[in-house]
Amino acid sequence: MEIFKEIEPIRAFLKTKKEQKKSVGLVPTMGALHDGHLSLIRASKAQNDLTVCSIYINPTQFNNPTDLAKYPKTVEKDIAMLQQGGCDVLFLPDNSTMYKKEGGLKLDFGVLDKVLEGEFRPGHFSGVALVVSKFFNIIQPDRAYFGQKDFQQFKVINRLVEELKFNIELPFIPTMREADGLAMSSRNLRLNPEERVKALIFFKSLQLGKEELLKGTSLSVVKNKVKSLFETTSGVRLEYFEIANAENLTVLENVGSSVNCIMLIAGFVGEIRLIDNMFVKDVK
Ligand code: PAF
Repeated sequence: MEIFKEIEPIRAFLKTKKEQKKSVGLVPTMGALHDGHLSLIRASKAQNDLTVCSIYINPTQFNNPTDLAKYPKTVEKDIAMLQQGGCDVLFLPDNSTMYKKEGGLKLDFGVLDKVLEGEFRPGHFSGVALVVSKFFNIIQPDRAYFGQKDFQQFKVINRLVEELKFNIELPFIPTMREADGLAMSSRNLRLNPEERVKALIFFKSLQLGKEELLKGTSLSVVKNKVKSLFETTSGVRLEYFEIANAENLTVLENVGSSVNCIMLIAGFVGEIRLIDNMFVKDVK
C-alpha cells in the first residue's frame, strides 16, 4: 500500500493511474477502523481498479472539543488493517495540509443539516461537507463510500455531489453490526465493558420501534416506549428518537403507508455519544 501525506504527490500518483484508465474508489475515514470500514473497502475493491482510503480526524466537524480530543487514534493498527484488507493507497494528511487558513468556508444545506444530528451538533455537517469536498478535489474518485450508520451524512454528501456537480457515484452501503446488533462505530472503542452492554439499548430501541410500527402502533406511543426504555436504564441518555422520510429526512408526525421511513436515534452511554438508524418497511 502506498502512503501519502501531502497533496501534490498523491495527485501525481493518481494522475498516472487515471491516464491508464484505472477507476478510483475513495473511502474517507477518521481512522479507528473496524469491520464497518472494511466493508466499505470491500465494496470499493469490487467496483474500482484502485481503492484509496483517507484517515483524517477533521476538526471542523466537531462542535465538542472534548469529543475531538478523545476521538480514538489507532493509526498503526489502521495501517495494518488496510494492508490486510487490500487497500491500495492511504492518504494521511495533517491539519496544516487540509486547512491553510483559520475560519474556513461554511456550507448550508437548509433543513437537511438543521434537523436530527444538525440540531444537536450545529456546524457538524458544514465541516463534514467541507472536508469531503477537499478529498473529492484531491482524489477525484469515480465512486466514494459512506456507510448507512451515518445516514444523515450520506444524505448531505448526496446533496453536496448534486449541488457542486461532482462527477462521483455514491453507492449505498448498509450498516455493519456486531453479533449482538450494536452498530459498528469507532466510538465503540471508548466504551468500557459495562457501557458496551448498555450501548445495546440503541439497537433494541430500533427493533422495538420497527416491531411496534409494523403492528400499527402510533408514532407518539412508539416514541414514548423508547423514551421510557432509556429513562428506566441507568447510565444512558436519549437525545432523540425520530422517524423520518428516508428520501429527504423530513421528520414525520404520522407514518403513512406510502412513505419510505427510517428511524434515527442518538444518545449517550456515559459520556460517549452514539447514533444508529434502521428502515421501517411496510408501515401501515
Ligand atoms: O464518517 C466519517 O468518518 C467522517 O465524517 C468523514 C466522512 C470521514 C469526514 O471527516
